[in-house]
Amino acid sequence: MPIRFTIYPDLCDAFGHLNQASYLALFERARWQVLAEGPGIDVFTRAAVWPAVRRAVIEYHAGVWPGDALEFSTELAHRGRTSFTLRQRAVRASDRRLSATLETVFVCIDRKERPAAIPEEILMVFDTGPRHVTLPSGVTLAIDERGSGEPAVLFVHGYPLDRTMWAAQLAGITGHRLIAPDLRGFGDSAAGNPPAESVEAHADDLVALLDALGIARAVVVGLSMGGYVALALAERHRDRLAGLVLVDTRSRNDDAAGRAGRDGAIATIRGGDSQSIVLGMAEKLFAAEASEELRARFTTQMKAVGAEGLIAALTAMRDRPDRTALLPTLGDLPTLIMVGREDRITPLEDSRAMAEAVPGATLVVVEGAGHLSPAEQPDRVNQGLQAFLEEVGRRGV
Ligand code: MLT
Repeated sequence: MPIRFTIYPDLCDAFGHLNQASYLALFERARWQVLAEGPGIDVFTRAAVWPAVRRAVIEYHAGVWPGDALEFSTELAHRGRTSFTLRQRAVRASDRRLSATLETVFVCIDRKERPAAIPEEILMVFDTGPRHVTLPSGVTLAIDERGSGEPAVLFVHGYPLDRTMWAAQLAGITGHRLIAPDLRGFGDSAAGNPPAESVEAHADDLVALLDALGIARAVVVGLSMGGYVALALAERHRDRLAGLVLVDTRSRNDDAAGRAGRDGAIATIRGGDSQSIVLGMAEKLFAAEASEELRARFTTQMKAVGAEGLIAALTAMRDRPDRTALLPTLGDLPTLIMVGREDRITPLEDSRAMAEAVPGATLVVVEGAGHLSPAEQPDRVNQGLQAFLEEVGRRGV
Protein backbone atom coordinates (compact mmCIF):
# COMPACT_ATOMS: atom_id res chain seq x y z
CA MET A 1 0.00 0.00 0.00
CA PRO A 2 1.42 3.41 -0.88
CA ILE A 3 2.02 5.87 1.97
CA ARG A 4 0.08 9.10 1.55
CA PHE A 5 1.04 12.52 2.93
CA THR A 6 -0.76 15.85 2.54
CA ILE A 7 1.59 18.75 1.73
CA TYR A 8 1.44 21.77 4.06
CA PRO A 9 2.92 25.28 3.49
CA ASP A 10 5.81 24.71 5.93
CA LEU A 11 7.42 22.33 3.39
CA CYS A 12 7.05 24.75 0.47
CA ASP A 13 9.42 27.42 -0.79
CA ALA A 14 9.13 31.08 -1.79
CA PHE A 15 7.55 30.06 -5.10
CA GLY A 16 4.74 28.24 -3.33
CA HIS A 17 5.55 24.66 -4.29
CA LEU A 18 7.07 21.74 -2.41
CA ASN A 19 10.71 22.55 -1.82
CA GLN A 20 13.27 20.26 -3.45
CA ALA A 21 14.99 19.49 -0.14
CA SER A 22 11.67 18.69 1.55
CA TYR A 23 11.22 15.76 -0.81
CA LEU A 24 14.15 13.96 0.77
CA ALA A 25 12.56 14.31 4.20
CA LEU A 26 9.22 13.03 2.91
CA PHE A 27 10.82 10.05 1.17
CA GLU A 28 12.57 9.23 4.44
CA ARG A 29 9.31 9.64 6.39
CA ALA A 30 7.63 7.23 3.94
CA ARG A 31 10.33 4.62 4.57
CA TRP A 32 9.87 4.90 8.32
CA GLN A 33 6.13 4.63 7.86
CA VAL A 34 6.57 1.33 5.98
CA LEU A 35 8.63 0.04 8.91
CA ALA A 36 6.15 1.37 11.47
CA GLU A 37 3.32 -0.48 9.72
CA GLY A 38 5.48 -3.60 9.29
CA PRO A 39 8.22 -4.91 11.56
CA GLY A 40 8.39 -1.75 13.74
CA ILE A 41 10.75 1.21 13.68
CA ASP A 42 13.10 -0.53 16.13
CA VAL A 43 13.85 -3.26 13.57
CA PHE A 44 17.43 -2.08 13.07
CA THR A 45 18.06 -1.64 16.78
CA ARG A 46 16.81 -5.19 17.39
CA ALA A 47 19.24 -6.52 14.78
CA ALA A 48 22.07 -4.27 16.08
CA VAL A 49 22.62 -3.10 12.50
CA TRP A 50 22.13 0.38 11.00
CA PRO A 51 21.60 1.42 7.39
CA ALA A 52 24.05 4.15 6.40
CA VAL A 53 23.15 6.05 3.23
CA ARG A 54 25.98 5.86 0.71
CA ARG A 55 24.25 7.52 -2.23
CA ALA A 56 20.91 9.17 -2.96
CA VAL A 57 19.84 10.15 -6.47
CA ILE A 58 16.66 12.19 -6.75
CA GLU A 59 14.83 13.28 -9.89
CA TYR A 60 11.99 15.78 -10.00
CA HIS A 61 9.19 15.46 -12.53
CA ALA A 62 6.13 17.51 -11.51
CA GLY A 63 5.40 20.22 -8.94
CA VAL A 64 3.26 19.87 -5.82
CA TRP A 65 1.39 22.62 -3.92
CA PRO A 66 -0.04 23.00 -0.40
CA GLY A 67 -3.15 20.89 -0.01
CA ASP A 68 -2.01 18.31 -2.63
CA ALA A 69 -1.55 14.72 -1.51
CA LEU A 70 1.53 12.73 -2.51
CA GLU A 71 1.59 8.92 -2.55
CA PHE A 72 4.92 7.22 -1.90
CA SER A 73 5.82 3.67 -2.92
CA THR A 74 9.04 1.92 -1.99
CA GLU A 75 10.60 -1.19 -3.51
CA LEU A 76 13.81 -3.09 -3.19
CA ALA A 77 15.75 -2.45 -6.41
CA HIS A 78 18.89 -4.41 -5.52
CA ARG A 79 20.16 -6.51 -2.68
CA GLY A 80 23.70 -7.49 -1.89
CA ARG A 81 24.99 -9.11 1.30
CA THR A 82 25.52 -5.91 3.25
CA SER A 83 24.12 -3.24 0.93
CA PHE A 84 20.75 -2.68 -0.67
CA THR A 85 19.10 -0.13 -2.93
CA LEU A 86 15.59 1.20 -2.43
CA ARG A 87 13.69 2.78 -5.31
CA GLN A 88 10.95 5.19 -4.29
CA ARG A 89 8.32 7.02 -6.28
CA ALA A 90 6.15 9.96 -5.26
CA VAL A 91 2.94 10.32 -7.28
CA ARG A 92 0.40 13.19 -7.16
CA ALA A 93 -2.80 11.62 -5.86
CA SER A 94 -5.08 13.99 -7.80
CA ASP A 95 -3.93 13.07 -11.33
CA ARG A 96 -1.48 10.14 -10.76
CA ARG A 97 1.40 12.15 -12.24
CA LEU A 98 4.87 11.11 -11.17
CA SER A 99 6.30 13.91 -9.03
CA ALA A 100 9.72 12.55 -8.06
CA THR A 101 11.81 9.39 -7.80
CA LEU A 102 14.61 8.59 -5.39
CA GLU A 103 17.17 5.78 -5.47
CA THR A 104 19.06 5.33 -2.24
CA VAL A 105 21.95 2.94 -1.65
CA PHE A 106 22.32 1.81 1.97
CA VAL A 107 25.17 -0.09 3.57
CA CYS A 108 24.39 -1.92 6.79
CA ILE A 109 26.97 -1.39 9.52
CA ASP A 110 27.35 -2.64 13.07
CA ARG A 111 28.24 -0.58 16.15
CA LYS A 112 31.91 -0.61 15.16
CA GLU A 113 31.00 0.70 11.70
CA ARG A 114 31.90 -2.60 10.05
CA PRO A 115 29.69 -3.79 7.14
CA ALA A 116 27.04 -6.22 8.45
CA ALA A 117 24.47 -8.53 6.82
CA ILE A 118 21.11 -6.93 5.97
CA PRO A 119 18.42 -7.96 8.51
CA GLU A 120 16.06 -10.45 6.83
CA GLU A 121 13.00 -8.53 8.06
CA ILE A 122 14.11 -5.48 6.10
CA LEU A 123 14.41 -7.43 2.89
CA MET A 124 10.98 -8.95 3.40
CA VAL A 125 9.25 -5.64 4.03
CA PHE A 126 10.66 -3.80 1.03
CA ASP A 127 10.99 -6.74 -1.32
CA THR A 128 7.78 -6.34 -3.30
CA GLY A 129 9.17 -7.14 -6.75
CA PRO A 130 10.67 -10.40 -7.97
CA ARG A 131 14.28 -11.40 -7.47
CA HIS A 132 16.14 -12.55 -10.60
CA VAL A 133 18.24 -15.71 -10.42
CA THR A 134 20.61 -16.54 -13.28
CA LEU A 135 21.21 -20.27 -13.76
CA PRO A 136 24.45 -21.84 -15.07
CA SER A 137 22.68 -22.38 -18.43
CA GLY A 138 22.36 -18.59 -18.76
CA VAL A 139 18.58 -18.67 -18.23
CA THR A 140 17.34 -16.02 -15.77
CA LEU A 141 14.19 -16.71 -13.76
CA ALA A 142 12.21 -14.14 -11.78
CA ILE A 143 11.12 -15.52 -8.43
CA ASP A 144 9.12 -14.51 -5.37
CA GLU A 145 10.42 -15.90 -2.12
CA ARG A 146 8.90 -15.73 1.37
CA GLY A 147 9.38 -17.29 4.76
CA SER A 148 11.72 -19.94 6.11
CA GLY A 149 11.51 -23.50 7.34
CA GLU A 150 11.73 -27.00 5.86
CA PRO A 151 10.66 -28.53 3.67
CA ALA A 152 10.88 -25.69 1.18
CA VAL A 153 7.96 -25.42 -1.23
CA LEU A 154 8.33 -24.72 -4.94
CA PHE A 155 5.16 -23.42 -6.65
CA VAL A 156 4.89 -23.92 -10.43
CA HIS A 157 2.27 -21.83 -12.22
CA GLY A 158 -0.09 -22.83 -15.02
CA TYR A 159 -0.57 -21.54 -18.57
CA PRO A 160 -0.74 -18.67 -19.50
CA LEU A 161 -0.18 -17.34 -15.99
CA ASP A 162 2.76 -16.31 -13.85
CA ARG A 163 4.18 -16.68 -10.34
CA THR A 164 1.74 -14.14 -8.88
CA MET A 165 -1.11 -16.66 -9.18
CA TRP A 166 0.35 -18.09 -5.94
CA ALA A 167 0.21 -14.76 -4.06
CA ALA A 168 -2.37 -16.03 -1.55
CA GLN A 169 -0.26 -19.11 -0.83
CA LEU A 170 2.93 -17.06 -0.31
CA ALA A 171 1.02 -14.77 2.01
CA GLY A 172 -0.88 -17.48 3.88
CA ILE A 173 1.30 -20.58 4.31
CA THR A 174 3.56 -20.40 7.37
CA GLY A 175 6.63 -22.25 8.66
CA HIS A 176 8.17 -23.01 5.26
CA ARG A 177 10.46 -21.39 2.72
CA LEU A 178 8.17 -20.64 -0.23
CA ILE A 179 9.44 -20.04 -3.76
CA ALA A 180 7.33 -19.13 -6.78
CA PRO A 181 9.25 -18.68 -10.06
CA ASP A 182 8.06 -17.37 -13.40
CA LEU A 183 8.75 -20.13 -15.92
CA ARG A 184 10.67 -19.03 -19.01
CA GLY A 185 8.45 -16.85 -21.20
CA PHE A 186 5.99 -15.84 -18.44
CA GLY A 187 5.71 -12.92 -16.02
CA ASP A 188 9.13 -11.35 -15.50
CA SER A 189 11.17 -14.25 -16.95
CA ALA A 190 12.29 -13.76 -20.55
CA ALA A 191 11.41 -16.49 -23.05
CA GLY A 192 15.13 -17.07 -23.60
CA ASN A 193 17.02 -18.15 -26.62
CA PRO A 194 16.07 -20.87 -27.35
CA PRO A 195 12.74 -20.80 -25.49
CA ALA A 196 11.69 -23.81 -23.37
CA GLU A 197 9.68 -25.95 -25.77
CA SER A 198 9.25 -28.96 -23.48
CA VAL A 199 8.01 -29.53 -19.95
CA GLU A 200 11.31 -31.34 -19.32
CA ALA A 201 13.24 -28.12 -20.11
CA HIS A 202 11.17 -26.29 -17.48
CA ALA A 203 11.78 -29.13 -15.01
CA ASP A 204 15.53 -28.88 -15.59
CA ASP A 205 15.38 -25.08 -15.09
CA LEU A 206 13.67 -25.65 -11.74
CA VAL A 207 16.27 -28.14 -10.54
CA ALA A 208 18.97 -25.63 -11.44
CA LEU A 209 16.97 -23.02 -9.51
CA LEU A 210 16.86 -25.28 -6.42
CA ASP A 211 20.64 -25.68 -6.76
CA ALA A 212 21.12 -21.91 -7.02
CA LEU A 213 19.00 -21.37 -3.91
CA GLY A 214 20.84 -24.09 -1.96
CA ILE A 215 17.72 -26.26 -1.59
CA ALA A 216 18.38 -30.00 -1.62
CA ARG A 217 14.72 -31.11 -1.63
CA ALA A 218 11.40 -29.33 -1.91
CA VAL A 219 7.72 -30.07 -1.99
CA VAL A 220 6.72 -29.24 -5.56
CA VAL A 221 3.25 -27.81 -6.10
CA GLY A 222 2.19 -27.56 -9.75
CA LEU A 223 -1.04 -26.23 -11.21
CA SER A 224 -2.18 -27.54 -14.58
CA MET A 225 0.81 -26.95 -16.92
CA GLY A 226 2.78 -26.56 -13.69
CA GLY A 227 1.54 -30.05 -12.80
CA TYR A 228 2.89 -31.40 -16.10
CA VAL A 229 6.24 -29.85 -15.15
CA ALA A 230 5.99 -31.25 -11.60
CA LEU A 231 5.42 -34.76 -13.00
CA ALA A 232 8.46 -34.34 -15.26
CA LEU A 233 10.42 -33.32 -12.14
CA ALA A 234 9.16 -36.40 -10.29
CA GLU A 235 10.31 -38.60 -13.16
CA ARG A 236 13.67 -37.00 -13.87
CA HIS A 237 14.76 -35.66 -10.48
CA ARG A 238 12.87 -37.70 -7.88
CA ASP A 239 15.66 -37.26 -5.30
CA ARG A 240 14.97 -33.49 -5.26
CA LEU A 241 11.33 -33.89 -4.20
CA ALA A 242 10.16 -34.09 -0.58
CA GLY A 243 6.53 -34.23 -1.70
CA LEU A 244 4.30 -33.65 -4.70
CA VAL A 245 1.12 -31.60 -4.96
CA LEU A 246 -0.81 -31.80 -8.23
CA VAL A 247 -3.43 -29.07 -8.48
CA ASP A 248 -6.06 -28.89 -11.25
CA THR A 249 -3.96 -31.00 -13.61
CA ARG A 250 -3.71 -34.42 -15.23
CA SER A 251 -1.09 -37.10 -15.99
CA ARG A 252 -2.51 -37.96 -19.42
CA ASN A 253 -1.11 -36.27 -22.48
CA ASP A 254 -3.08 -34.58 -25.26
CA ASP A 255 -5.13 -36.76 -27.57
CA ALA A 256 -5.20 -36.09 -31.34
CA ALA A 257 -7.93 -33.46 -31.00
CA GLY A 258 -6.03 -31.75 -28.18
CA ARG A 259 -2.83 -31.65 -30.24
CA ALA A 260 -4.72 -30.23 -33.21
CA GLY A 261 -6.16 -27.57 -30.87
CA ARG A 262 -2.64 -26.57 -29.79
CA ASP A 263 -1.55 -26.33 -33.43
CA GLY A 264 -4.55 -24.13 -34.18
CA ALA A 265 -3.72 -21.86 -31.23
CA ILE A 266 -0.07 -21.61 -32.32
CA ALA A 267 -1.16 -20.63 -35.85
CA THR A 268 -3.54 -17.98 -34.46
CA ILE A 269 -0.79 -16.51 -32.28
CA ARG A 270 1.69 -16.54 -35.20
CA GLY A 271 -0.96 -14.68 -37.16
CA GLY A 272 -0.75 -11.90 -34.57
CA ASP A 273 -3.88 -12.67 -32.54
CA SER A 274 -2.68 -13.75 -29.08
CA GLN A 275 -5.57 -11.96 -27.44
CA SER A 276 -8.32 -14.26 -28.71
CA ILE A 277 -6.40 -17.30 -27.40
CA VAL A 278 -5.94 -15.68 -24.01
CA LEU A 279 -9.54 -14.49 -23.79
CA GLY A 280 -10.78 -17.95 -24.76
CA MET A 281 -8.80 -19.35 -21.81
CA ALA A 282 -10.16 -16.70 -19.45
CA GLU A 283 -13.73 -17.87 -20.11
CA LYS A 284 -12.98 -21.41 -18.95
CA LEU A 285 -10.81 -20.75 -15.91
CA PHE A 286 -13.26 -20.03 -13.11
CA ALA A 287 -16.21 -21.42 -11.21
CA ALA A 288 -19.48 -19.60 -11.79
CA GLU A 289 -19.22 -17.72 -8.48
CA ALA A 290 -15.78 -16.15 -9.18
CA SER A 291 -15.81 -12.37 -8.73
CA GLU A 292 -15.41 -9.89 -11.57
CA GLU A 293 -12.32 -8.58 -9.80
CA LEU A 294 -10.65 -12.01 -9.87
CA ARG A 295 -11.55 -12.50 -13.53
CA ALA A 296 -10.17 -9.06 -14.42
CA ARG A 297 -6.94 -9.64 -12.47
CA PHE A 298 -6.20 -12.87 -14.32
CA THR A 299 -7.24 -11.55 -17.72
CA THR A 300 -4.70 -8.74 -17.29
CA GLN A 301 -2.07 -11.26 -16.20
CA MET A 302 -2.69 -13.48 -19.22
CA LYS A 303 -2.76 -10.60 -21.71
CA ALA A 304 0.76 -9.65 -20.60
CA VAL A 305 2.35 -12.92 -21.79
CA GLY A 306 4.35 -12.50 -25.00
CA ALA A 307 3.73 -14.56 -28.15
CA GLU A 308 7.07 -16.36 -27.82
CA GLY A 309 6.23 -17.66 -24.35
CA LEU A 310 2.73 -18.72 -25.43
CA ILE A 311 3.97 -20.62 -28.48
CA ALA A 312 6.76 -22.37 -26.57
CA ALA A 313 4.32 -23.45 -23.84
CA LEU A 314 1.71 -24.69 -26.33
CA THR A 315 4.44 -26.69 -28.07
CA ALA A 316 5.62 -28.12 -24.74
CA MET A 317 2.10 -29.12 -23.70
CA ARG A 318 1.28 -30.58 -27.14
CA ASP A 319 4.36 -32.78 -27.12
CA ARG A 320 4.43 -33.86 -23.47
CA PRO A 321 4.37 -37.59 -22.87
CA ASP A 322 1.66 -39.46 -20.98
CA ARG A 323 2.99 -39.80 -17.42
CA THR A 324 0.19 -42.02 -16.09
CA ALA A 325 2.58 -45.00 -15.83
CA LEU A 326 4.74 -42.96 -13.45
CA LEU A 327 1.95 -42.65 -10.87
CA PRO A 328 2.08 -46.17 -9.33
CA THR A 329 5.84 -45.71 -8.79
CA LEU A 330 5.33 -42.64 -6.57
CA GLY A 331 4.31 -44.57 -3.44
CA ASP A 332 7.35 -43.39 -1.46
CA LEU A 333 6.59 -39.74 -2.23
CA PRO A 334 3.92 -37.99 -0.12
CA THR A 335 1.40 -36.90 -2.74
CA LEU A 336 -1.60 -34.59 -2.51
CA ILE A 337 -4.00 -34.07 -5.37
CA MET A 338 -6.31 -31.04 -5.35
CA VAL A 339 -8.97 -30.06 -7.81
CA GLY A 340 -11.72 -27.47 -8.04
CA ARG A 341 -15.14 -29.14 -8.04
CA GLU A 342 -16.04 -27.09 -11.13
CA ASP A 343 -12.76 -27.43 -13.04
CA ARG A 344 -13.71 -27.53 -16.73
CA ILE A 345 -10.18 -27.77 -18.15
CA THR A 346 -8.79 -30.67 -16.10
CA PRO A 347 -11.97 -32.08 -14.53
CA LEU A 348 -12.42 -33.98 -11.28
CA GLU A 349 -12.30 -37.40 -13.04
CA ASP A 350 -8.66 -36.77 -14.02
CA SER A 351 -7.70 -36.04 -10.42
CA ARG A 352 -9.69 -38.97 -9.10
CA ALA A 353 -7.89 -41.31 -11.51
CA MET A 354 -4.50 -39.91 -10.43
CA ALA A 355 -5.36 -40.27 -6.74
CA GLU A 356 -6.33 -43.90 -7.29
CA ALA A 357 -3.12 -44.59 -9.18
CA VAL A 358 -0.62 -43.11 -6.69
CA PRO A 359 -0.32 -45.41 -3.64
CA GLY A 360 -1.29 -43.50 -0.48
CA ALA A 361 -2.20 -40.25 -2.28
CA THR A 362 -4.80 -37.93 -0.77
CA LEU A 363 -7.47 -36.26 -2.92
CA VAL A 364 -8.93 -32.91 -1.86
CA VAL A 365 -11.87 -31.54 -3.84
CA VAL A 366 -12.05 -27.75 -3.49
CA GLU A 367 -15.65 -26.59 -3.31
CA GLY A 368 -16.56 -23.35 -5.06
CA ALA A 369 -13.53 -23.45 -7.36
CA GLY A 370 -12.90 -24.04 -11.04
CA HIS A 371 -9.50 -24.50 -12.70
CA LEU A 372 -7.74 -21.84 -10.57
CA SER A 373 -8.58 -23.14 -7.12
CA PRO A 374 -5.54 -21.58 -5.33
CA ALA A 375 -6.76 -18.09 -6.35
CA GLU A 376 -10.50 -18.80 -6.22
CA GLN A 377 -10.58 -20.46 -2.80
CA PRO A 378 -7.26 -19.51 -1.19
CA ASP A 379 -8.31 -20.36 2.38
CA ARG A 380 -9.49 -23.85 1.48
CA VAL A 381 -6.41 -24.54 -0.61
CA ASN A 382 -4.05 -23.13 2.03
CA GLN A 383 -5.66 -25.25 4.71
CA GLY A 384 -5.13 -28.41 2.64
CA LEU A 385 -1.57 -27.45 1.75
CA GLN A 386 -0.59 -26.46 5.28
CA ALA A 387 -1.89 -29.78 6.67
CA PHE A 388 -0.03 -31.69 3.96
CA LEU A 389 3.22 -29.81 4.64
CA GLU A 390 2.97 -30.58 8.38
CA GLU A 391 2.45 -34.24 7.51
CA VAL A 392 5.51 -34.24 5.23
CA GLY A 393 7.49 -32.57 8.02
CA ARG A 394 6.30 -35.18 10.57
CA ARG A 395 7.29 -38.01 8.25
CA GLY A 396 10.70 -36.34 8.00
CA VAL A 397 10.80 -36.99 4.29
C1 MLT B 1 -3.09 -24.65 -17.77
O1 MLT B 1 -3.94 -24.17 -17.03
O2 MLT B 1 -1.90 -24.69 -17.44
C2 MLT B 1 -3.52 -25.18 -19.12
O3 MLT B 1 -4.86 -25.00 -19.27
C3 MLT B 1 -3.19 -26.61 -19.27
C4 MLT B 1 -3.54 -27.14 -20.62
O4 MLT B 1 -3.94 -26.38 -21.52
O5 MLT B 1 -3.40 -28.36 -20.81
